[in-house]
Amino acid sequence: MQLHLAVVLLCATAGLFAIAGAEDPYRFFDWNVTFGDIYPLGVRQTGILINGQFPGPDIHSVTNDNLIINVHNSLNEPFLISWSGIQQRRNSYEDGVYGTTCPIPPGKNFTYILQVKDQIGSFFYFPSLAFHKAAGGFGGIRILSRPRIPVPFPDPAGDYTVLIGDWYKSNHTNLKARLDRGKKLPFPDGIIINGRGPGGASFNVEQGKTYRLRISNVGLQNSLNFRIQNHRLTLIEVEGTHTLQTTYSSIDLHLGQSCSILFKADQPAKDYYIAVSTRFTSRVLTSTAILRYSNSAGPVSGPRPGGPTIQIDWSLNQARSIRTNLTASGPRPNPQGSYHYGLINTTRTIRLANSAGQVNGKQRYAINSVSFVPADTPLKLADYFKIGGVFRVGSISDNPYGGKIYLDTSVMQADYRAFIEIVFQNNENIVQSWHLDGYSFFVVGMDGGQWTTASRREYNLRDAVSRCTTQVYPKSWTAIYVALDNVGMWNLRSEFWARQYLGQQFYLRVYTASTSLRDEYPIPKNALLCGRASGRHTRPL
Ligand SMILES: *[C@@H]1O[C@H](CO)[C@@H](O)[C@H](O)[C@H]1NC(C)=O
Ligand SMILES: *[C@@H]1O[C@H](CO)[C@@H](O)[C@H](O)[C@H]1NC(C)=O
Ligand SMILES: *[C@@H]1O[C@H](CO)[C@@H](O)[C@H](O)[C@H]1NC(C)=O
Ligand SMILES: *[C@@H]1O[C@H](CO)[C@@H](O)[C@H](O)[C@H]1NC(C)=O
Ligand SMILES: *[C@@H]1O[C@H](CO)[C@@H](O)[C@H](O)[C@H]1NC(C)=O
Repeated sequence: MQLHLAVVLLCATAGLFAIAGAEDPYRFFDWNVTFGDIYPLGVRQTGILINGQFPGPDIHSVTNDNLIINVHNSLNEPFLISWSGIQQRRNSYEDGVYGTTCPIPPGKNFTYILQVKDQIGSFFYFPSLAFHKAAGGFGGIRILSRPRIPVPFPDPAGDYTVLIGDWYKSNHTNLKARLDRGKKLPFPDGIIINGRGPGGASFNVEQGKTYRLRISNVGLQNSLNFRIQNHRLTLIEVEGTHTLQTTYSSIDLHLGQSCSILFKADQPAKDYYIAVSTRFTSRVLTSTAILRYSNSAGPVSGPRPGGPTIQIDWSLNQARSIRTNLTASGPRPNPQGSYHYGLINTTRTIRLANSAGQVNGKQRYAINSVSFVPADTPLKLADYFKIGGVFRVGSISDNPYGGKIYLDTSVMQADYRAFIEIVFQNNENIVQSWHLDGYSFFVVGMDGGQWTTASRREYNLRDAVSRCTTQVYPKSWTAIYVALDNVGMWNLRSEFWARQYLGQQFYLRVYTASTSLRDEYPIPKNALLCGRASGRHTRPL
């Protein structure tokens, strides 16, 4: 009976999904998104639940799987989910940000058709519209290696998702209203670990065994430090790259970043603190979860483990020590080091500087002086249907512009297959975190001060990690190399969520004149159409 149902479902949907990798396995998800009461910091709040859960359910997948995710929007407002780090190859239509995808109207559903093509590792999904991220609606995504591809460490006894983030007691509508009025957000009220406040979450282990934690910073404003009392952490993966296995006493995770660590439950059997605290803040927020041995002789005891000091050097040194294991396999059987990114000449350098300021008496945040404002139509749809006047290519410059902040729907164009250098210059006193959808990039260098061409001499052109989110320390720069091998309209944004909301983002239009399916898939048949794309047809009549 169940098999029969599955076959019917597959046939019924085969037309819709014809474009996904047909020979690769399908996984189906049916998600109901609702508002519901949550109590992460002890007070009742309206949270965004997925199938009644906060955080939402994990997505478990294997390299190249097709994920068919039917999302029912049972909120009373429009909703979208985006998939941080899932590259949506040739298919930015499924990216789930407003620049590419129409919101799912209240009471309606939309089926995302994703393929985790050529990817492994730990990522997360999150609600991308309004200020929904402050209400939950996020969950873990894991992509396992295919069975015949070697993984550079033994199978752990357990594999847990750990979503950490700063949190406000104020609800998402109040936070959004404050930003809409042109105010900054206050300092958050606490830190949550898997949706729970201090002492709420627990992880069970058996003495002598080794466990994997997939940790993501799904918070809004702060870099976080993660540690486990009396246990050492071995870093094994960041955002899809197997790293050199280095052992640390604690790990810094900046906004939007994910990593995997292994730890051995090698201590006397009792309970231990898992501690997470804000980094580089004058007031430090700390939260704890409990690591519980199966034969535990007693509750947590002793002081909560302390984190590193406020200086950035420790964090910068740790970041530089995170390297690719060149001999280990990634998603493919060949070693990760077989792609020699350091030997490829870059053809363009883009320098992006973040800034904060007021426009018309309201707080805004900008990149190269442009503060992004959404258009009335998703940019990708305007592009596809050739609807003029929605955005202008070149509405943001390749280099910092000394002028005052102004508003625009900023879109930068770049050539498909170009190999480019992007330098993030942070002249502000905050830790910045940048994410690029559709890609992973090589983080070739970071240092204090102003980037100059001489800074290239300190680049790591051998074993830098490839990831999708990178931090930039205060008054510092970070440089990345990106192979633009994915046609589409891709969001580049600050993961500092109030900044993203108030304009610190733009779209990178990776363009080719070719209309071949090898380069880009056509618009999905089920694409929602909105704004000036309403009433158009996703297929010729
Ligand atoms: C979603 O959940 C709500 C509240 O429980 C329920 O009323 C609604 O029928 C559900 N929708 C679907 C599609 O399951
Ligand atoms: C948020 O809180 C305000 C009161 O501060 C309330 O009026 C509003 O309904 C709440 N919104 C949600 C979505 O819970
Ligand atoms: C909405 O969900 C129903 C099943 O609940 C499914 O048959 C239909 O294809 C979905 N519609 C879209 C646009 O995804
Ligand atoms: C790198 O990966 C190889 C597998 O190819 C593994 O044997 C080795 O231990 C790893 N080295 C480090 C330092 O992580
Ligand atoms: C890169 O540029 C250098 C200097 O212009 C040149 O000698 C070299 O052949 C180029 N390498 C590649 C792979 O194109």
